[in-house]
Amino acid sequence: MGRFAQRSDIFIDEDTLRDEYTPEPDELVEREEEMDEYEEALQPTVNGSQPRHIFVYGETGVGKTVATRMILSELEEDQQHFSGVSIRVVWLNCKDLTSYLAAGHLVNKFREDGQYISTTGYPRGTVHQMLWEHLNELPESHILFVLDEVDSLGTDDELLYQLPRANSNGKVTETKVGIIGISNDFTYRENLSPRVQSSLCEHEIHFAPYDAPQLQAILEPRASKAFANDVLENDVLPLAAAFAGQDTGSARHALNILYKAGSIARRTDASQVTEDHVRKAADLVERGIIEDELRALPAQSHLLLYVLTVLASNDETPARRTRIYEVYETAANRCGTTVKAPRTVHNRLSQLSLKGFLKVNEVNEGINGGKHYDYGLDVDPDIVMDALETDNRLSDLV
Ligand SMILES: Nc1ncnc2c1ncn2[C@@H]1O[C@H](COP(=O)(O)OP(=O)(O)O)[C@@H](O)[C@H]1O
Ligand SMILES: [Mg+2]
Repeated sequence: MGRFAQRSDIFIDEDTLRDEYTPEPDELVEREEEMDEYEEALQPTVNGSQPRHIFVYGETGVGKTVATRMILSELEEDQQHFSGVSIRVVWLNCKDLTSYLAAGHLVNKFREDGQYISTTGYPRGTVHQMLWEHLNELPESHILFVLDEVDSLGTDDELLYQLPRANSNGKVTETKVGIIGISNDFTYRENLSPRVQSSLCEHEIHFAPYDAPQLQAILEPRASKAFANDVLENDVLPLAAAFAGQDTGSARHALNILYKAGSIARRTDASQVTEDHVRKAADLVERGIIEDELRALPAQSHLLLYVLTVLASNDETPARRTRIYEVYETAANRCGTTVKAPRTVHNRLSQLSLKGFLKVNEVNEGINGGKHYDYGLDVDPDIVMDALETDNRLSDLV
C-alpha cells in the first residue's frame, strides 16, 4: 500500500466546509436583519431611481461576502419581473489591488478576451475615461459595482471618489451607477477623506461578530452535508462554535475548526470526530490566525517583536522602554533598516499592545518617582519566530 488511499469514513463532502462553497439560500442563517437592510438599501435601484451607495463593514468571516452574493443573486433573478429596469452586477475583489489597478480591472470587466487592456499601461485619467465609455454603452439601465475587500485599496481614494459621482459629475449619463463597498476593516471608513465618505457611505450596513449559538446554527447545515452520518460526537458542533465565538465571532473560523477536527480524525483513523479533536483543531487554527496577523504587520513592528522575543529568551521581560530601545537600535542597525526615534518606537509598542501582541504594565516608582512602562510578549514566542521568518527584511536577524 502507498501512502495515499481514498478515505471516506469521516467526510462525505468536505468541500461544503470551505470558503468557496456557496450555501443554499436556506442555509444562510442568522442574517435576516442585515438582508432586510440590504433590501431597503437596494429598493431605489429596483424602482428605477438613482441607486444609493452602500457601505458594508464588519470583521472578517461574519458573512459579508456571502450575504451580498445572495441578495444580489435574488435581485438578478427577480428583475425578470421588473419593467423599465435592468440591472447588471459587476463584482471586483480588491485584495492586492491599488485604486489605479482596480480601475483597469473594472474596464476589463466590459471587454472580451483579446481586448483586455494592460492594467498598468495607461495614465489614470485615460483608464477612467475608458470606464465611462463602457458604462455609457451598456444596454442595462443600472449597474451595481461590488468592491469587495475595498479596504485593500488603502489611502489612494481616487477611484472611490470618481465612481460614486460618475452620474452627478456627468461622466456617465446613459446608465445609473451604484456602488457596494465591503470592508473588513472598521477604521477604513473613518480614514477615508470626507469627500469620499459622504458619497460612498450613503447607506451603511454593519455585520456584527456571531455569538456561539449563531455559529452553531451556521455550522449545523454545513456539517450535515460534510460529514458521514453519526461520526460527530454530540458536543463537537457546540464546542467548535464556542471556541470561535469566544475568540473571533467568525463563521470562517468556526468552519475551519470543524474541518481541521475532521481531518485530524481522518488522519488518526478515528471512527468519530471527538471533542478532543476539536480542542486540538482550535489550537491549530488559532495559531494560524495569529501567525497571519503577525505576518501582516509592517517591518518596524516585526523588528520590535523580534526584540521582545530576544529579551524574553534572556529572561529580561517585562522590560522597560529604554531597554527595549537599546536592543532595538542594535537590531535595526544590524539589518540595515532606519532607526526610528524613541517616540515613534514607543507609539509602536503601545499599538502592538492594543492589538494584543504585547502586554504592558504601568509601573509607579514610589512616592516621589514618576512612572514607567514595561512590555512583554503576549503571544507564544515560537509563533512570533515562525511568522518573522517569512519577513526577508529581517533575514539577517532570524
Ligand atoms: N450567516 C451565515 N450562514 C451560513 N454561512 C455563513 C454565514 N455567515 C458566514 N458564513 C460562511 O462563513 C464563511 C465566511 O463568510 P464570508 O461571507 O466569506 O465572510 P466575510 O466576507 O465577512 O469575511 C463562508 O464560508 C460563508 O459561507
Ligand atoms: Mg469577504
